[in-house]
Amino acid sequence: MFMHGRSISAAALVVVVAIAGCQPAGSADATAGGPRLLSAADTIAYGRTVAIHHGCGDCHGGGDNPSAPMWLVGFRAGTDDTLFWPAVIPTPGGKFKTWPRNLTPDNETGLGRFTERQIYNALRYGLRPGETPDAVITSSTPGEGNFPANPKYLAPPMPWPAFRHMPETDLWAIAAYLKRGVAPQTNRVQPSEGPPDFWAGLYGMIAGPMPAPAFPTAREVALPR
Ligand code: HEC
Repeated sequence: MFMHGRSISAAALVVVVAIAGCQPAGSADATAGGPRLLSAADTIAYGRTVAIHHGCGDCHGGGDNPSAPMWLVGFRAGTDDTLFWPAVIPTPGGKFKTWPRNLTPDNETGLGRFTERQIYNALRYGLRPGETPDAVITSSTPGEGNFPANPKYLAPPMPWPAFRHMPETDLWAIAAYLKRGVAPQTNRVQPSEGPPDFWAGLYGMIAGPMPAPAFPTAREVALPR
């Protein structure tokens, strides 16, 4: 599980540009379990492309190679993965160790336990799928619109503060790929350390306010063409 640089193949880029050109970003109906712009098979294939070029495998296993034996199985104890993990995260409350989890749809140790909506909520809001109900969330304010009153967030370096800016279509497609496009593998990853409640506060220092502010912020401009 090496930390590969991120590469976007020309073919992948063409696919993304082509699909992005015909999708209204943020228009998906979250209550219906995802957008309906593509067939189920195309959604999974598109989710694969998005997962690869967002570097999911760089941390979760396999790098940028979906044919790797360790594709998305998460941290493997007793292997070379120990050269890179755990990540040790310094916080005002001390140092905490974190490990990337098993993203294959194994029912016991992977994402098979969760719905596509729980995976979507993890990527859109950073909510830990194991501690967040399977619910349609309509607010980013704790306690409102099904957003948990005491949210449990995913720990660094899981880059959900960046992923939350992705279009609805992309997030749902990743969820579809992880549940229906990846072979299940059994690999139990130990839980990350640290009280999950404060990760959002820590992320806020580097990623900005929760929820993400709309474009343009004070440091951006929206120039006419
Ligand atoms: C820089 C490293 C890194 C990258 C890149 C990364 N993740 Fe993660 N991810 C993590 C870590 C570490 C955790 C464990 C967080 C925790 O324990 O709270 C995690 C946890 C998760 C979880 C929660 C799983 C569970 O069982 O609770 C999901 C879902 C997830 N990642 C999806 C993705 C997807 C999809 C991508 C690519 C679009 C991705 N991750 C890219 C590091 C990463």
